Amino acid sequence: MFRLTLLRAFALAPLWIACSSPKLEKRPDAAEATLHSLMSPDGALRIDFGLRKGVPFYTLSREGQVLVGPSPLGLRMRRGVALDQGLKVHSVDYRDHDERWEQPWGEQRIVRDRHRQMRVELSSAAHPQKGAVLGLVFRSFDDGIAFRYELPELEGEASFELEEEKTEFHIPEAKYAWWIPAGKIKRYEYLFRKTSLDALSAVHTPLTIELEEGILLSLHEAALVDYAAMYLARGSVAQTLEAKLFAWKDGVKVRASRPHRSPWRTIQVATRAPELIQSTMILNLNEANALGDVSWARPQKYVGIWWGMHLGKNTWGSGAKHGATTKNAMRLIDFAAEQGIPAMLVEGWNLGWDGDWMKHPQDFVFDRPYPDFDIEKVVAYGRERGVQLIGHHETGGALANYEAQMERAFAYYANLGVRTVKTGYVDEVVPLPEHHHGQFMVRHFQKVAEVAARHRIALNVHEPIKDTGLRRTYPNMLSREGARGTEYDAWSEDGGNPPEHTAILPFTRCLAGPLDYTPGIFKLRFNGNKARNRVRTTLAKQLALYVVIYSPLQMVADLPENYRAKRAFQFIKDVPVDWEKSLALEGAIGDYVTIARQERGSDHWYVGSLSGGKARTMDLALDFLAPNRRYRAEIYRDASDADWERRPEAIALETREVRASDRLKVAIAAGGGCALRFVALPPGE
Ligand code: NOJ
Repeated sequence: MFRLTLLRAFALAPLWIACSSPKLEKRPDAAEATLHSLMSPDGALRIDFGLRKGVPFYTLSREGQVLVGPSPLGLRMRRGVALDQGLKVHSVDYRDHDERWEQPWGEQRIVRDRHRQMRVELSSAAHPQKGAVLGLVFRSFDDGIAFRYELPELEGEASFELEEEKTEFHIPEAKYAWWIPAGKIKRYEYLFRKTSLDALSAVHTPLTIELEEGILLSLHEAALVDYAAMYLARGSVAQTLEAKLFAWKDGVKVRASRPHRSPWRTIQVATRAPELIQSTMILNLNEANALGDVSWARPQKYVGIWWGMHLGKNTWGSGAKHGATTKNAMRLIDFAAEQGIPAMLVEGWNLGWDGDWMKHPQDFVFDRPYPDFDIEKVVAYGRERGVQLIGHHETGGALANYEAQMERAFAYYANLGVRTVKTGYVDEVVPLPEHHHGQFMVRHFQKVAEVAARHRIALNVHEPIKDTGLRRTYPNMLSREGARGTEYDAWSEDGGNPPEHTAILPFTRCLAGPLDYTPGIFKLRFNGNKARNRVRTTLAKQLALYVVIYSPLQMVADLPENYRAKRAFQFIKDVPVDWEKSLALEGAIGDYVTIARQERGSDHWYVGSLSGGKARTMDLALDFLAPNRRYRAEIYRDASDADWERRPEAIALETREVRASDRLKVAIAAGGGCALRFVALPPGE
């Protein structure tokens, strides 16, 4: 495949579209446009912005190679001045930024935000206001670029109703995309497919794309506040994606008063797949912590009255199999206390779960326990034993019922001393009043985060809106689901998540932010609801997931009896959930990934490596360790005859002394993994 240079892209734009497109469409070319450019701090990425006959467009290139060819920008309103045509450049200004900031918790403690910015103000001859009617802010980082729309105050148009966003991404060299469909009943809970751009119709972001020459892009958004979530649809021009927004019922996409601004449209750029994971751009595009001291929003591992329900051994509702009983909870607290796990989730303790709960979610009462669950006694017992209760709010889609009780429900938990609450929005049977990803729900999720923060409560949102980095602004947004998690292994029609799934997630869904995947299943084959269901990983891969899939809340998901007398459980006890530094070391999407992380406040390092469907040998340079130090490497690996299908439980444990100058070779089975702990030894030991 020839390499399209920037100059050729502009010169050939109309011709190349004509050749490759199902529909002839003239694109802007350099001769007709005035360009304003912005380079990334390291000089590799370049954004060009221009207007052609009043229509704004942009281009992204890397070292002269076009990544995103000339693509239109703009907004179309229901009423008022057009913001996608008839525009003129009113002003352009530039600024540079370089700052280091600290995360209260996260995969890196210190994050560097180095970017360059170009702010373009556009005016319109069709509007009496002399100044800007639309602002476009571009930022370029070394790991990608972003832009957003700003809607300034406008005479006679105090508010607006957005009909359509006109942003496009023309990616001439796109070869493959890894995607999940958008607008479907299961929200983000689908398996990723890898196809060309022509084979997708509407997909969620983050969308990862590989170009002909191996460059990778991830298209997503940052700082989704009071706007509708974006998805991408195949455009009418080949190799083009169009930004679409989830609508209100009346078709409006966003309604708000001016001034307002859109989320950032983001394009991460990587030359190797692990660089996608290493990027901090999404966080950097969010506003600083708005909550102040958030020491109460604590990263932690947790056990739960949970997996038993998914396996069908227990029920959420009352009766002989009720999971959330005082007795079960106290038993689980004992287990957690013995194993040093600081928290326990309880689902199904509050009234409303009886019968088919999905059909009557308006019955949920968030502050009234079933008679066999003495919440005060459980909390007090947990306190005595050093185990916190994690609360649960399942809305089942009945938003009015939840919103009416929300304030009281968080106050109830706060009074009990609960500091973390899991929320849920299963809306397959009773649909939410507005689309799950539209502006109404974006506002709702934000409101919940704010109410929870007032009560000093952190959140783990299931069936969430996708993450766009808001955890920087609201660090009580600890984790969320928004993917096919482990629960699918217990009951999904297709038998569970295939081995490739967790080798794709780190390069796709996880680019958005923390994922509560709920790993740690040791009994990988079980009599689930369906005979085909099982966990399609080896045991060592379950351990690797704690390092590979970042989440400040990590579940120790299996039933306690399945951990008893298992030496491998030691890794789960040891592995931290908060990190000083994280390094994505190697990986190929769907095939394998290896991540190293240094524990926050310690010299110890942890590595997780996992494979998709094929076995491989990891040959790891240990140069991330501190030089001149000795470490005890504790190695949890697939036994030589392990594989996810026939011998998933076969695991081998060994220890070895290593230094930064060493390499470590570890064989990883098909659907397998390894988990490593490097304990820094005191000098002279
Ligand atoms: C779906 C969630 O993902 C799961 O974790 C939870 O147990 C059920 N809903 C019930 O709330």
